[in-house]
Amino acid sequence: MADRIDTTRLQEMARAYTASAVLYTALDVGLFSQVSAGCRTEEALVAATGLRSVDVDRLVSCALSLRLLDWEGDELHNAPDVEAYLVQGKDRYAGPWMMFTRPDVSGWFQMTEKMRAPASTKLGMYDELTVESARKYHQATSSIGFGAARRFVRSVDLSSRKHLLDLGGGSGAYSITCVEQFDGLSATVLDLPPVVVATQEYIKDAGVEDRVRTVGADFTEGEFPSPVDVVVMASNLPIYNAEVIAGVVARAFRALEPGGEMHLIGEMLDNDRRGPVDAAMWGMNELVCGSEGRAHTRGECEGYFSSAGFVDVEVTDFVAGTLARCVGKKP
Ligand SMILES: C[S@@+](CC[C@H](N)C(=O)[O-])C[C@H]1O[C@@H](n2cnc3c(N)ncnc32)[C@H](O)[C@@H]1O
Repeated sequence: MADRIDTTRLQEMARAYTASAVLYTALDVGLFSQVSAGCRTEEALVAATGLRSVDVDRLVSCALSLRLLDWEGDELHNAPDVEAYLVQGKDRYAGPWMMFTRPDVSGWFQMTEKMRAPASTKLGMYDELTVESARKYHQATSSIGFGAARRFVRSVDLSSRKHLLDLGGGSGAYSITCVEQFDGLSATVLDLPPVVVATQEYIKDAGVEDRVRTVGADFTEGEFPSPVDVVVMASNLPIYNAEVIAGVVARAFRALEPGGEMHLIGEMLDNDRRGPVDAAMWGMNELVCGSEGRAHTRGECEGYFSSAGFVDVEVTDFVAGTLARCVGKKP
């Protein structure tokens, strides 16, 4: 007998924006920070936030049903990921990243119009970067980027490598973390000219100015600093189309010494494109932001590497369900 069907899943999807909106408001009013600080009841939350009790009741019901909060007896507690990443002042606070795409909300709801009257450029949202907007952007990316970079150095051994080229390195999260982890390594962060001003501030804060330098350039054009023995490109894959990514990978191959390696970390679709949803959505984000980018499959990424001349090419999970890592070696 065929599975019974109903409209539940479709109705949830039609109103999935409600979950984003609740998360934004919970962060606006400091719900999770207050709970972490000891406001374990709705009365205490009313006193701490100054909101009406009916609105605290509404917000807490949403947060409980979204598994952002939970009960321990009569007391409210943050879910473990909420406690780690959404409590202001904690080391791993990722609020700036969670809020970063909030200004894009209205653009997502103009998707139909954007498809019918498309307007795109190669660099999309990066066309109009200023030093100030780059600083704000990387306050957000660094709140998750350094965690990703720590994961990278746990999974990839660069102890025999000498020089890392970090394409679109942003805050320098990967370069800084890699030189801190591997003694003999130095690094070059290549990013757009307004961005590297912000990058230098992160490098200075980390005290690694002697080992990480920056180059202000557009990685879609020109040859790369050379020679290097590792290239990393992280979290900018869907911004560009196949032609641009294949070109970047080919120029990275040329910049590498024989025996060198490249790592491309990004949101990649499974080869049948049935997921992860997040990878598909980052591709769609490029319609919203006005670039020519799209979501790439794991197989396509392997193809860019093999066509450039890399061998031992493989894609593995980096953060399961979100990020994958394509690696290849230059013979
Ligand atoms: C989402 S951030 C990722 C930053 C860093 N790789 C990380 O994982 O934390 C994407 C970065 O790619 C850079 N980028 C995008 N297009 C670029 C281009 N054409 N040339 C150089 N950098 C670029 C952006 O300026 C930004 O810093």
